[in-house]
Amino acid sequence: MKKNPFFIKEIPVDAPFCDREKELADLISYAKANSNVVLYSPRRYGKTCLTKRVQHSLKTIGTLTAYCDLFGVTSVEEIARRIAKSIYTVTHKSQGMFNKAISFITSFRPVLSPSPDGGISVSVQTAFKTDGLRVLEDTMDSLERFIHDVGVPVHIAFDEFQEIAEVNDSIAIEGILRHYIQKIQCSFFFIGSRRRVLLEIFNDRARPFFQSALNYELKTLPEKDLILFIKSQFEKAGKLITRENASKICKLVSNHPYYAQKFCFFLYEETSKKVTSDDIVETNAILIKSERVVFESILQGLATKQIAMLSALAKEPTAKIYSASYMAQHGLGSTGGIQQSIKTLSKQDLIEKDNKTGVWSLVDPVFRTWLDSS
Ligand SMILES: Nc1ncnc2c1ncn2[C@@H]1O[C@H](COP(=O)(O)OP(=O)(O)OP(=O)(O)O)[C@@H](O)[C@H]1O
Ligand SMILES: [Mg+2]
Repeated sequence: MKKNPFFIKEIPVDAPFCDREKELADLISYAKANSNVVLYSPRRYGKTCLTKRVQHSLKTIGTLTAYCDLFGVTSVEEIARRIAKSIYTVTHKSQGMFNKAISFITSFRPVLSPSPDGGISVSVQTAFKTDGLRVLEDTMDSLERFIHDVGVPVHIAFDEFQEIAEVNDSIAIEGILRHYIQKIQCSFFFIGSRRRVLLEIFNDRARPFFQSALNYELKTLPEKDLILFIKSQFEKAGKLITRENASKICKLVSNHPYYAQKFCFFLYEETSKKVTSDDIVETNAILIKSERVVFESILQGLATKQIAMLSALAKEPTAKIYSASYMAQHGLGSTGGIQQSIKTLSKQDLIEKDNKTGVWSLVDPVFRTWLDSS
């Protein structure tokens, strides 16, 4: 039996990919030109896997590519630590570069240990105790000197970059990072899904990063490419799906890259030889059920009135949130309360307003279906 050609875990860098040719070419050319880019989209549109593909391609032409994930950082020391770790991780296989990194980055020492998968895992230890902003400054200063000395082009991706805005002293942190990023001769990508928080860092005049990078938005997948992708993946793995059924999937997941992959993964398992309409209905229920824990944990983090607002927009997207009839029909309470809820839910990127129509709706299509049906 052939292997399921779809992925629910992270997609490998050499696995078939749907579309994104233009995005890949754009991002590679920005990186080669040493430009800085803010890459943003709602959750799971493929920012991280696209960045990994950009870096994979840059590596083949001799670029040193570091990937620094800032998810969950809670202190300035931790930010500095993750930066140092990303440099040690990318250099440890080349003795010459690794020695250079060690000689420049004096604030953290690398620790190499065998990992369970038979490879080497890299961690870092603080080399000396000092105040957090100083450690970040030292690390960025050593990064600048390392990049200057290393003699090859460098690309650094900061994933979940918006997290720095939630850390104490965030403006001072932004100030230090901006100071060095402006001077360092390489390309930086700043990636994130909490669009409001991320874009405010770059588009607010009062913030250090103001207008320091190109804004690049990743959209959903074009429907016609997604249909072809689904059909060809099924066919290559020995099963069949019609254009109409592939199109139904695109509609059900609103052309969302992650949900399309996940839907098709389950559907491939469900189908014996040829996908039927019933398989699609059943798979849709499986997909929604598989996300339940994630959705419930989002709701657990919200206040009752925010949940009411979210449910109202799932059931009935609207441009008239403050109309008396909408408020009464969905039991939304006071205007002040609604304002607060809208602010919190937008900041978390759970809802968004369409700029053209003014309609507010949920960002995540499967979350919307789940809320609407529960
Ligand atoms: N162009 C594509 N073709 C096929 N599958 C894709 C594509 N883009 C994304 N995916 C699927 O979506 C998954 C999620 O992608 P990824 O983790 O890169 O999203 P993200 O935008 O970084 O999400 P988050 O905001 O949660 O960090 C991938 O592992 C892959 O299965
Ligand atoms: Mg990501």
